[in-house]
Amino acid sequence: MAERMRLGVNIDHVATVRNARGGQHPDPVRAAEQALAAGADGITAHLREDRRHITDADIEALSALCATAGRPLNLEMALTQEMFEIAMRHRPHAVCIVPERREEVTTEGGLNVRANLSQLFFPVQQLKEAGIRVSLFIDPSKEQVMAATGVGAQVVEFHTGRYCHAEGDRRRAAFEELTAAVEMADAVGLEVHAGHGLDYETAAEVATLPQVRELNIGHFLIGEAIFIGLDAAIARMREAIDGAAR
Ligand code: PXP
Repeated sequence: MAERMRLGVNIDHVATVRNARGGQHPDPVRAAEQALAAGADGITAHLREDRRHITDADIEALSALCATAGRPLNLEMALTQEMFEIAMRHRPHAVCIVPERREEVTTEGGLNVRANLSQLFFPVQQLKEAGIRVSLFIDPSKEQVMAATGVGAQVVEFHTGRYCHAEGDRRRAAFEELTAAVEMADAVGLEVHAGHGLDYETAAEVATLPQVRELNIGHFLIGEAIFIGLDAAIARMREAIDGAAR
């Protein structure tokens, strides 16, 4: 039987709420523990350069939690010297390299791998040699897929923001673009993930693409948790994904 599509739960926005008041509550590590118990296959956290949500101490605690639980930690980070050293120190299951601009509200687009081949090549090899799976967060573009293979990444995560935020014909067109990029990435041997802006409906549609092995979802699930609780939000998301993928 084919492996079920994995759900990585991004707990960044639990830290956003905690940091609004300082202090310890709500604790993203507690949310991660609860997410794993509720059906998440792994935990995703973005350590941003400005530490606006997840902190170094959170990464330390999440690494310990995931190691104890035997579940993957997917560390999202910009490829700076500081983040590279943090990744090498913690050796998470996976690192997802994302572009980062301080003034952005969220990760607004994919990494331009094509324009940064030489900057990416050696760090990607070093991370891989350290036993870390390297994923590149890219827009659904064939040029970026080819560039990702060129730098030796094992995984690409497609930025689904454009698809999720569009409506009607534009959404259809964005989904077709995503489908073509997913098929191509799979054909060239990359493991395919997707994320950004997904909700029950869009996650279910992306889950109809059999080449997609993992979805990473944060903002919507943490928002839903306010109304129905984190366990129920994750259970509903699992149902949406598993139902579509059947
Ligand atoms: N994947 C990556 C690489 C991201 O940067 C983000 C946002 O931090 C997500 C997935 C999750 O996006 P969202 O919070 O919109 O579900």
